[in-house]
Amino acid sequence: MNKKVADLLNAQVNKEFYSAYLYLGISKYFTKQDLNGFASWYKVQAEEEQEHAMKIYTYLLEQDQDVTLSSIAAVEVDFKNALEAAKAADKHEHYITDEIVKIMDAAVKDKDYRTQLFLNWFINEQEEEENNSAEMIAKVQMLGNDKKNLYLLDKELGSRKG
Ligand SMILES: [Fe+2]
Ligand SMILES: [Fe+2]
Repeated sequence: MNKKVADLLNAQVNKEFYSAYLYLGISKYFTKQDLNGFASWYKVQAEEEQEHAMKIYTYLLEQDQDVTLSSIAAVEVDFKNALEAAKAADKHEHYITDEIVKIMDAAVKDKDYRTQLFLNWFINEQEEEENNSAEMIAKVQMLGNDKKNLYLLDKELGSRKG
């Protein structure tokens, strides 16, 4: 594997673990607000991000590459309200999409077809993630200002399993 592609994939392992850390931080924020459904939804998302990191980690090792496990950045979760938290998640997912595209660009440039196939999964996944985060913003905007509606939305979000 081309060094640039390997380095970008390696950096993405860290970014996916950071995503998990960010979602865990958002989950903690909602736990503190007594919105346990939101908290549970974001905790499930944090677990999914760890799976993303491990997918790339495993792929690199299978390709006989090394993986450096560098430190994960601290997370700021001092949100004013649910909408601000939902917007932070959405902004982060757009950033992650850009990063995945950069790796794809490098793999295309290097004619690394195996990595391109591997990354297709992530390209699709990012579409789902962006849809989810946009939907969350829309729901919070629609229902978040009314305590009773927020309670109902919290209940709905708590049913997410995976
Ligand atoms: Fe991810
Ligand atoms: Fe997802």
